[in-house]
Amino acid sequence: MLRSGRIPSTLRLPASPAGIRAVLAILAVGWLGIVGGCQKDGSSPAAGQDGAGPLISDTGYVLMLTGNWIGQLEPCGCSARQLGGIDRRSHVLRAVDARARLLLDNGPLIERDDRQNQLKLEAFLSSMRLLGYDGVTLTGRELELVGKELALAGESRPRIIATNLSELGRQAYQAVRYLERTLQRGQGKLDCLVMAVSDPVRPGLDSPESGPQWLDPVSAVIQVLLDKKIAPVQPSTDRLIILLVSDANEERAEKLGQIRALDLIVKVGYADEPDLARPAGRYPAVVTSGRLGKYVCGFQLPVDQPAQMDAARFFSIPIEENYPRDPKIVRIIDNYQLQLQVEDLVRDEDILPRMALPEGLSFVGNDTCRSCHSSIHQNWSGFAHAHAMETLQRVNRQFDPECVNCHAVGLKYLSGYRSLQTTPEMAGVGCESCHGPGSKHIEDRGAPFQMIFTACEDCHNHETSPVFEAQREEYFKKISHWTEPRRYWK
Ligand code: HEC
Ligand code: HEC
Ligand code: HEC
Ligand code: HEC
Repeated sequence: MLRSGRIPSTLRLPASPAGIRAVLAILAVGWLGIVGGCQKDGSSPAAGQDGAGPLISDTGYVLMLTGNWIGQLEPCGCSARQLGGIDRRSHVLRAVDARARLLLDNGPLIERDDRQNQLKLEAFLSSMRLLGYDGVTLTGRELELVGKELALAGESRPRIIATNLSELGRQAYQAVRYLERTLQRGQGKLDCLVMAVSDPVRPGLDSPESGPQWLDPVSAVIQVLLDKKIAPVQPSTDRLIILLVSDANEERAEKLGQIRALDLIVKVGYADEPDLARPAGRYPAVVTSGRLGKYVCGFQLPVDQPAQMDAARFFSIPIEENYPRDPKIVRIIDNYQLQLQVEDLVRDEDILPRMALPEGLSFVGNDTCRSCHSSIHQNWSGFAHAHAMETLQRVNRQFDPECVNCHAVGLKYLSGYRSLQTTPEMAGVGCESCHGPGSKHIEDRGAPFQMIFTACEDCHNHETSPVFEAQREEYFKKISHWTEPRRYWK
């Protein structure tokens, strides 16, 4: 169901009867959304799984936006009712006739530059291609991966827009300077011009010596406008001009916002939910596209005034966990998981480097603790913690380092978990997940434990365990294996 239903107060009624019908249809969707309506108009809007209400109506032109995925191809599944998943949005995206829809992503897609994230980038881009994305923005490092290391051919990814990349860079990375598309609705047409800029200096992700040459984003955008004979300082009325920005730099966004010819700037935000940062009526409108792929946001533009942002209606649709999974995208995700397994990232110490523990400590495994703490061990065997690896096996994610990291002992350390065959005593959330490496303690029982190795909240965080904070006492009771009152975990 439509959550946002934000209706701009500036929405003006057009003169023509057809225009009025279109706007009324849009209004109806908005209002139905707000009051939890059950009625659909005749234009076959997408409905929630339960058919509860229309998500969006197939009228006017529709701009759909996503971005800032932070590597979240799909929600982890650690708690109930998580939003997101690149595989669960097809019916939202396809609710609108593709000829009248512009689908864009302002990136970034991945969070780090390790092997797992490289494979993930590939999965993201092939999914977006299948979902019909018109264009995406990438960071400099993502671009290098696509163009050089992964060498992803044009037909296996959507078009990459890189307005502030040098001409040579664009050739090398097969990116376009801007994208032009004409949307169609009946006899109506809407010309769109899409540009995209990336941060030229992202420490850690870009290597200026070897990487592509970047230009100043503001002048790169102005140059495109001048080349297209558009006056940068005046609002443009005959087409929709959109700028995608793959970072959250406020200062630069402010400068870009002074280019009045732009209708819309889409940038990265810090909140999960997309937001219309600057209300309609001011130019350009500024939108943050959300976080972690939890929503699809965008604008519905009435056919008679499509290039006017102040006639547009902003929407933000949560991707609910009961939405149908697209089998084609599921196949891509399964393939990605298979690659993790084949490359054996959980075990391979070259691809996933491991740290040494301080003071020569090492993990010894739950079985060793059992020899002296047998009744505690028996208690623990009945807790969910002991079965956390079985949980991953059940959902077939036992080869995904990002999951194993919390569902086993010490994955990131030299003496930690590697595989069910070689280190079965470190599968699951074991004694040492919380108490820390036990090597010194078992040699000399007087040796003090580093009591808080991992705080509950390091694993039970906002995403994985949203109720933890509120139900702290209950959570502690459920794993109680101590005689004295809690001393260290408070
Ligand atoms: C930051 C640590 C962390 C990461 C990373 C993590 N999990 Fe979890 N997982 C948890 C915690 C904590 C719980 C228990 C949540 C609760 O019950 O409050 C949990 C619970 C689960 C459950 C539900 C178990 C049940 O039957 O109740 C599943 C399924 C699961 N995780 C799968 C995954 C998968 C798949 C991944 C990787 C995509 C993953 N987890 C990554 C911490 C994590
Ligand atoms: C050789 C026997 C032995 C083994 C093996 C052993 N422990 Fe202990 N552990 C003890 C004894 C004895 C004490 C009580 C020490 C005391 O009262 O000062 C103890 C105390 C503890 C305490 C309480 C410390 C405190 O200061 O409150 C923790 C926690 C603990 N052990 C965890 C573990 C874990 C985890 C393992 C496995 C890595 C483990 N132990 C393995 C014998 C052992
Ligand atoms: C190393 C990561 C990690 C740490 C640290 C951790 N947990 Fe967990 N916890 C998990 C995972 C993973 C699960 C899900 C296990 C499963 O069902 O697969 C879980 C599940 C639980 C559950 C079961 C929830 C249910 O409803 O069945 C409780 C209770 C719990 N944890 C309490 C705690 C407490 C209290 C602490 C701190 C003292 C803590 N956990 C520390 C990872 C962790
Ligand atoms: C999810 C985290 C977690 C796991 C897993 C865990 N413990 Fe604990 N353990 C705690 C907490 C919390 C306490 C209470 C510490 C305190 O006294 O404040 C505790 C206390 C203890 C104590 C002290 C008992 C007492 O009477 O005060 C021992 C011994 C111990 N644990 C052993 C183990 C062993 C052995 C395992 C594995 C079989 C294990 N623990 C698994 C969190 C954990």
